[in-house]
Amino acid sequence: AAPRARMVVANWKMFGNLALCRESLPRLAAAAMESVELVVCPPAPYLGEVGRLASSSGVHYGAQDVAEVTHGARTGEWSADMLAELGCRYAIVGHSERRDRHRECNQTVAVKAAMCIAAGVIPIVCVGETMSDRESGQTEVVLAEQLKAILQLMKKNAMFVLAYEPVWAIGTGLAATPEMAQDVHAFLRRQLALFSSAWAESVTILYGGSVKADNAASLFAMPDIDGGLVGGASLNVNDLLSIYKAAH
Ligand code: G3P
Repeated sequence: AAPRARMVVANWKMFGNLALCRESLPRLAAAAMESVELVVCPPAPYLGEVGRLASSSGVHYGAQDVAEVTHGARTGEWSADMLAELGCRYAIVGHSERRDRHRECNQTVAVKAAMCIAAGVIPIVCVGETMSDRESGQTEVVLAEQLKAILQLMKKNAMFVLAYEPVWAIGTGLAATPEMAQDVHAFLRRQLALFSSAWAESVTILYGGSVKADNAASLFAMPDIDGGLVGGASLNVNDLLSIYKAAH
């Protein structure tokens, strides 16, 4: 079987501006290599500009969210088909900030992932436990529950990327240790294997949560960590490029 894709995904969240798009995309395009995918997820208003700047370069791009329906009277939302039309290869779904602030449940996240797949957009599905889940020994239970909804809706062999983002590590500077993250990634892959073991081996599993230029290499060296989903550090082009290099 072909080795699974390795990738580094920049999640700008609600940061950045046109100047950041214009400064960073040419530099990212110059650095992007086929061996590891480089993906930028800017705020939606910048997707057109990022698409233009990324065109015919090795940089891929995607959205940070997508609607759970194909079209409709949904002010402020956008569909997976619209993302596909703009050339987005990916859409992040189920980020903990959306689960928390927008009350997205596992079922909603699963429907969003299915919408992406139907439109030919690869969902980057985020899962992760809170500190209180971890402290009460519920990490695996919570993660299995988050995955279950997704797997039920997912066609076997569907292209998707999984991102493990422990909520306590996001934006805190307190990344999971490589060993801690590896344990969870291996657990997630075992859960996927209940569905199909060949497929489980092919799924890219990213780690997210305070990935920085100085901890990326040790995280990415772990056997089940196939790259990173990077927030804060992705807003600095030099840091993002160091993290990208660490994934090789
Ligand atoms: O999606 C990426 C993210 O939630 C991690 O954010 O700032 O801790 O790298 P950060």
